[in-house]
Amino acid sequence: MNPFNETPKKIFNCILDWKQLKPVPYKKNNIDPYTKTRIILANGSEFESVWFGHNFSRHCNNNDIRRSIALNRQIEQQQQKRISALKPIDENLLETTISYEQLAVDLTAFMAQNATCKSFKDGLDFALLEDFDHLYRYANLLDHDLGIKAETLVGKYTEIMPARPTIAHHRHPFDNIKFSVSENKLDINTLLHSHIITAAEQQTMNFYMNLGSFYFNESGRKLFSEIGMIEEQHVTHYGSFLNPNTSMLECNLIHEYVECYLYWSLINDEKNDEIKKIWEDCFEQEIAHLHSAKELLQKYEKRSWEDIFTFSADFPQPIALKENKDYVRKVLQKTVKLTSDKEHYQDVSKLDKSADFFKYQKIVNKDEKNVSSHLIIQQYINSHGEDYRYQEKQNPIKELQNRQKDNIDLARK
Ligand SMILES: [Fe+2]
Ligand SMILES: [Fe+2]
Ligand SMILES: [Fe+2]
Ligand SMILES: [Fe+2]
Repeated sequence: MNPFNETPKKIFNCILDWKQLKPVPYKKNNIDPYTKTRIILANGSEFESVWFGHNFSRHCNNNDIRRSIALNRQIEQQQQKRISALKPIDENLLETTISYEQLAVDLTAFMAQNATCKSFKDGLDFALLEDFDHLYRYANLLDHDLGIKAETLVGKYTEIMPARPTIAHHRHPFDNIKFSVSENKLDINTLLHSHIITAAEQQTMNFYMNLGSFYFNESGRKLFSEIGMIEEQHVTHYGSFLNPNTSMLECNLIHEYVECYLYWSLINDEKNDEIKKIWEDCFEQEIAHLHSAKELLQKYEKRSWEDIFTFSADFPQPIALKENKDYVRKVLQKTVKLTSDKEHYQDVSKLDKSADFFKYQKIVNKDEKNVSSHLIIQQYINSHGEDYRYQEKQNPIKELQNRQKDNIDLARK
């Protein structure tokens, strides 16, 4: 599939009316967990499109270009409204959060197993363990506060157990910047996946930023706040892989190309017919966006899409959301003790005593008794005797096997 070879619909004909923007929400007890994660992913991708469009407009002094991207952007907003309306009213903040972290785990694991660029793969494996640990922390809060077992929400496709402890994720911001992939060798797979994972993490960051304080008790609000800081780090981390050497018009074209690939993947992956129809509509709209972005680039920079896609613009294999239990366990076993050290990763025990990591940790985790991600687990253990997990066999890391004590030293001291 090369989306440049598709015939686009007229862009103005992509505008929907209010009725079309109001789909029937899914039934929360009767939906494939990966349909929920696909909805979150598409929602995040639309947010990225809208936000990129606003930034472009604010840095552009040509009103014809600004009008053209305003038209596309208004349709991106409609797509986002339609997709986010799929979440039912009775799905609460924390239930949705579990799906956010499940998405982070299984999307990252898919990309890491299919990565073509070594540094990007290492970056994926690194952040994978952190979102996997977030899932465990939120799951404990969910059962403690609402008596809901997160395994019912993730459909038992994703295990729930501690990984690199969240307390160890707090890094000096200098350690979250990686080399952009343009400095290595950009290929189609890395281009697409780096944009999509950045948008997904950014969606999680925004979700926690805006909604974390709506949680109904103080300990939960603090957990959202702490994990929200890690999502900021993840967005910095993944965003730094993106090619910075593109003009805004070129970046605009790439954004639309990425959206075409995303919906093409979602169509391929989706079993729910009504929701699949939405992905098909969105794909058609993205094809129209792509061709309008292509025309802008041609008109104002005299460059064709072939000048940008010097490699083939045929899509690689579609993104597939599915279980990755063995892969996650393998990464856990191999890399749990790593932290990020500037552009590289390092076993914490091998870091210099003067490393930025320790300086930052000393400030934010000054009093371990104040660290919410740890308190949540202790609170659960105090009331239930042991932590909540959904694991098919024991945690592969010895230090994480004790269910009566939350380990806060691993990958940190
Ligand atoms: Fe879109
Ligand atoms: Fe996370
Ligand atoms: Fe994340
Ligand atoms: Fe678009």
